[in-house]
Amino acid sequence: MVQRNHRPGYTGKLSNGKQNRRTEFSARRQKIAQQRKSLPIASVEKRLIEEVQKNDILIIVGETGSGKTTQIPQFLFGAGFCRDGKVIGITQPRRVAAVTVAKRVAEECGVELGQKVGYSVRFDDTTSGSTRIKYMTDGLLLREALLDPYLSKYSVIIVDEAHERTVHTDVLLGLLKNVQSARSKPVADDQSLNSGRKNVIAGMSLEKEYGGQSSGFLKKDHHEKYAPLKLIIMSASLDARTFSEYFGGAKSVHIQGRQFPVDIFYTCHPEEDYLDASLITIFQIHLKEGPGDILVFLTGQEEIESVEKLINDRLTQLPEGSQKLQVVPIFAALPSEQQLLVFAPAPSGFRKVILATNIAETSVTIPGIKYVIDPGFVKARSYDPGKDMESLIIVPTSKSQALQRSGRAGREGPGKCFRLYPESEFEKLEDSTKPEIKRCNLSNVILQLKALGVDDILGFDFIEKPSRAAIIKSLEQLFSLGALTDDCRLSDPVGHQMARLPLDPVYSKALILASQFNCLEEMLITVAMLSVESIFYAPREKQAEARTAIKCFSSPEGDHITLINAYRASNDFLEKRSAEMGKPKIEKAFRKWCKENFISSRSLKHARDIHRQIRGHAEQMGLNLASCGDDMLQYRRCLAASFFLNAAVKQPEGTYRALASGLVVQIHPSSVLFRQKPECIIFNELVQTNSKYVRNVSRIDYLWLTELAPQYYAVKN
Ligand code: CDP
Ligand code: MG
Repeated sequence: MVQRNHRPGYTGKLSNGKQNRRTEFSARRQKIAQQRKSLPIASVEKRLIEEVQKNDILIIVGETGSGKTTQIPQFLFGAGFCRDGKVIGITQPRRVAAVTVAKRVAEECGVELGQKVGYSVRFDDTTSGSTRIKYMTDGLLLREALLDPYLSKYSVIIVDEAHERTVHTDVLLGLLKNVQSARSKPVADDQSLNSGRKNVIAGMSLEKEYGGQSSGFLKKDHHEKYAPLKLIIMSASLDARTFSEYFGGAKSVHIQGRQFPVDIFYTCHPEEDYLDASLITIFQIHLKEGPGDILVFLTGQEEIESVEKLINDRLTQLPEGSQKLQVVPIFAALPSEQQLLVFAPAPSGFRKVILATNIAETSVTIPGIKYVIDPGFVKARSYDPGKDMESLIIVPTSKSQALQRSGRAGREGPGKCFRLYPESEFEKLEDSTKPEIKRCNLSNVILQLKALGVDDILGFDFIEKPSRAAIIKSLEQLFSLGALTDDCRLSDPVGHQMARLPLDPVYSKALILASQFNCLEEMLITVAMLSVESIFYAPREKQAEARTAIKCFSSPEGDHITLINAYRASNDFLEKRSAEMGKPKIEKAFRKWCKENFISSRSLKHARDIHRQIRGHAEQMGLNLASCGDDMLQYRRCLAASFFLNAAVKQPEGTYRALASGLVVQIHPSSVLFRQKPECIIFNELVQTNSKYVRNVSRIDYLWLTELAPQYYAVKN
């Protein structure tokens, strides 16, 4: 962020440095104003405002990069939608988009982030009482509804990137439909907001339990009429009809974008290793094609970091005097100050190559791209309700994703897209991606809906109903975690506490249990470390070294204690060094320490950040912040009590049988238990490649399961 301390009334002569900065600053402002004016959306501002004024629900479809996300909230602000201190809320499926767009808009408005413009995402809130344009994730708005069921501070809610159809977006749409209809009637008459009074009950119990933090609606006069809520649904692809039908024939408007032709190239044969193929293509473009930046779509942080490294290694072999390459990654767990780097132009003499997850598909628009490399894969959630197994798998993109990706090359001029698969494969792709709600475990969503007072989950007005089997399986799971009572209501206090924590229900339950097992300190570290992609990394050419490095943290009891050891070692390191050196030096030393230990410093930083925040939640909730000290047996028993749904026993041939699902799985080679193969384990993650692997594994005693999870195992066996 550019720091902007206007000093009103300052008339004195500026020193040279200041003068330069000021000139630079005003040049940048001018450039931004120009960019804004040239966006396709700029010419339809007046018409858009009229449509919003006329329609309570409006669907806006516009090509990616036309300016929807950054401009429309500013238009609405200008048109007076924030009168009386009301807020315009814009939800994004991805946190990176919420963060980077908010920063951009703050800059466009010439304000400090957190003042008029701010963002709020899980574990990171920059908003203040003066925030009027608030970017947030869709999941976060759902959480806000727990404390303020009428979302009363918002005059307009924009559900952006609705075509992504994340599970949170889908649930939010149903919820907003109810909120909108409730807000157009006097509260006392209202029966339509989920289940009317039950909301009040859920809200009251939250208020009672958490010291009156719930805001708003309880204090309101029940006869007061809420100001109506305007809803805007925005989407990049042309599926306005689904949304329009769902909202009873709502009006939709289309914004013309600008798109230059993009030449598409396919490979002759399928590629065996798409990372290798990406690398080769990057260098072919770099050495043979004209100027323009390259955007590569990869599936996750691990892939991005490994390609980043491979590029940097190979750069040293380029002929003397060739143009240089600047590699910039972008993915969700990247610290937010680094996320903004992708938008900055490459230094002169450099070509920029952006390694992105599918966040760059539609959520963020990066200027300057002329070449797109699309290996054709994406990481997606997949769920099998029969086995109650959710996993992240790498799957082929849909046709519409492939088109979106190639479109990124033609925003500013003609471009080229290299699809790393044969044309015949393209024809086989699905037309569009199945909504996430059809392919994920629903326990988190159900827990939240229950907390919002929606008791009849099967009857909830979903834009697309999840399968009955998936709903029932998730209800069962919540029941076995103790979150629901026999008549399927949220249990008190466990269910309410679980709904309150911004974590997966299984992790929330683990924290609550750890409070009783006197090992909450250890479990907080565990949950934080499990919430980020990989802590340890092992580059292909340094596997042996990486294995040796991990040994100094590794525990014969498994990966969970190994993660705790690594976390605590980083604590020790930082404590010792901060006594010796200043902040910038520590940062550098920390990165070096991580590198030596084959730890991803980005992941570890992210985990430390999450730890700080969930520890705050635990404290606020009055959980018992105790440590089990050296008694790791106690901690492992708590692991068994928490993750009993993911227990597995060894089979004669050395594979494992997961007890809940019956799946045959193997311990992932990255686990410290890969060779040891204990009799009984619990795990936190199932990865499906050619075989099914489990990651983050710890040794437990089989008998603990019936002792600590009798509600599940005593009945089963
Ligand atoms: O939402 P939509 O895809 O229609 O476009 P947008 O995200 O509002 O982006 C409009 C313009 O702002 C694009 O040209 C982006 O490159 C630019 N932008 C930027 O330069 N820096 C950001 N952090 C975000 C957007
Ligand atoms: Mg957008």
